[in-house]
Amino acid sequence: MSLQVAFSGVLIFFVSFYCDYGYAKIAPDYIHPCNDTSRECLIKATQDAVPEFVKGSPKLGVQLLDPFTIEKLSIPLNGLTFTFYQGKVSGFRNAIVDDVVSDLEKRHFILAFHCNLTIKGTYDAKGRILLFPIDGAGDAKIKLTNLRMKVDIKTKYVKDKQGLNHFSVKSYKYSFDYGDRVSFEITNLFKQSEELSKTVLAFLNDNWKLVAEEFGKPIVDYAVDLAIRTIEKFFLVVPYEELINVPIPKF
Ligand SMILES: *[C@@H]1O[C@H](CO)[C@@H](O)[C@H](O)[C@H]1NC(C)=O
Ligand SMILES: *[C@@H]1O[C@H](CO)[C@@H](O)[C@H](O)[C@H]1NC(C)=O
Repeated sequence: MSLQVAFSGVLIFFVSFYCDYGYAKIAPDYIHPCNDTSRECLIKATQDAVPEFVKGSPKLGVQLLDPFTIEKLSIPLNGLTFTFYQGKVSGFRNAIVDDVVSDLEKRHFILAFHCNLTIKGTYDAKGRILLFPIDGAGDAKIKLTNLRMKVDIKTKYVKDKQGLNHFSVKSYKYSFDYGDRVSFEITNLFKQSEELSKTVLAFLNDNWKLVAEEFGKPIVDYAVDLAIRTIEKFFLVVPYEELINVPIPKF
């Protein structure tokens, strides 16, 4: 063995040692930690992370968010039960981050964004919507254009078993508006009549705001709850110090 080969071997050993132990970073590469809590940096860092974060990561226990599937969701309305099956929700990857505020001391985090979402699945419905008696089952596709959302999270800090610090979610609330338009493509609202199905569907689309307000909230609640639980899991895996380069407040 020549000296050179031996030297390379030692070098490789040290390089891999350094990589394995010196850089035992848990955060994925798409996390670009800010060195301060300026809106400017936080918005950019969040925007950088969104398209990758929503792809999920089995290694980190983070589930796929775009698309995600709502297996079954019953929406009880006045006199109508609408049940969604295998509703596939897509579009979060293209979310545009409008604002991020993080007050580390006050344990307060705000995220505002807008996005276009599509929900596609099958449904059945029985009862009435507005004036119309409904008895249908078929395909349903709902498109939301520029849905705007603001999530307001109360955070806390926790230490894990290894003594590493983490963000955690104490509670949250959110507000949203349906944005520019919600459109519905729903087949077979009336099993008896295709004509009537088309007429009512046109009516629903003309009155999308009213309809969305009547039956959109459970779907949005579901999506936000899933997103928050996913973010929470991520926080419990990735240490605070890998998310932001600002000393953690006393806790
Ligand atoms: C934070 O500071 C480090 C070291 O100076 C730098 O490499 C990194 O780009 C900074 N991060 C941001 C988001 O500006
Ligand atoms: C949503 O779709 C509309 C119309 O197609 C488009 O103008 C808008 O830029 C999209 N918004 C986002 C956040 O992608």
